[in-house]
Amino acid sequence: MEKVADRPIVMSGIRPTGILHLGSYFGALKNYVRMQEEYECYFMVADLHSLTTHPDTKTLRQHVLHVVSEYIACGLDPDKAALYCQSDVYETSELYFYLNTLAYKGELEKTTTFKDKARQQPQNINAALLTYPVLQAADILLHRALYVPVGKDQEQHLEMARNFAARFNHRYGEIFPEPVAFNFGEELVKVPSLDGTGKMSKSENQNATLYLSDDDELIRKKVMKAKTDQGPQEPNTPMPDYIENIFQLMRLTGNEEAYNKFLLDYNNCNIRYGDMKKQLAEDMIRFIMPVREKAREIRNNETYLKEILEKGAAKSGKSAKNTMELVRKAVGIKYF
Ligand code: TRP
Repeated sequence: MEKVADRPIVMSGIRPTGILHLGSYFGALKNYVRMQEEYECYFMVADLHSLTTHPDTKTLRQHVLHVVSEYIACGLDPDKAALYCQSDVYETSELYFYLNTLAYKGELEKTTTFKDKARQQPQNINAALLTYPVLQAADILLHRALYVPVGKDQEQHLEMARNFAARFNHRYGEIFPEPVAFNFGEELVKVPSLDGTGKMSKSENQNATLYLSDDDELIRKKVMKAKTDQGPQEPNTPMPDYIENIFQLMRLTGNEEAYNKFLLDYNNCNIRYGDMKKQLAEDMIRFIMPVREKAREIRNNETYLKEILEKGAAKSGKSAKNTMELVRKAVGIKYF
């Protein structure tokens, strides 16, 4: 296999079906920002994928531009990483077709995300929903990426991408590396929701999720509503989940001093959860406010956004064209 670039290639995508929250930041974006310094990075907004579950496109533009603004506000640098829309790189759809010839109906039907979505939208079990993992594999293989920064919920899709790559290589010649999940060898941070059940989420549980666009008052309101109790009655009582979550959130904001103080209070049975939540709210505001304001500024500058997306499309288009030349030749579909 020929060497594709000087640095290992990283590729990841996010569906524009909701707005970013603290979980998206600590679970993904923070890693992206670190990766752009060391790797050749392609970060994409998966607008085509969103059509498999959100066929109504009235709010699509707004969501795409919102996500891109927040990417940049969180520290992604369009001069370092390619930031682009999936739909701008037409080669994706071409590779998707070739990979579809290597994907089996049976394995696609067995995919967990397909089964979940089919249950959620029984009136719209469309073929693109079934082949969602094939399109995702096309996104990744199009740049011959090696590393894909994603969470556990994407591991099955990634495994399928490896299988499609291996089948292609076996049938037509070695073109694709087999992509693996990558997060700097660290455990991915799970950001718990404020009500003690599950994680923060793009679309569910909005009152227990802190979005990067929430204003200060809303942040205070959500944090103050987080579930607590009367506090431990004996020293060294194990923490209930919902209390552990509040500590975990406090740790994420980076205020170690406050974290240690409240932990000590907890162990001494004199913790005041009201005070702890007030502190947490202020720390969250300190974190979210600059991102929110920067994202708003970028979102209001459509000329800049257009420029960024054109630049991203050009850079990823170049990489896509190189790969597709090789693919067409390998498949035997280039006659002259
Ligand atoms: N399926 C991913 C998700 O739901 C989004 C995605 C699309 C993606 N294409 C990708 C992620 C390519 C990584 C690589 O989060």
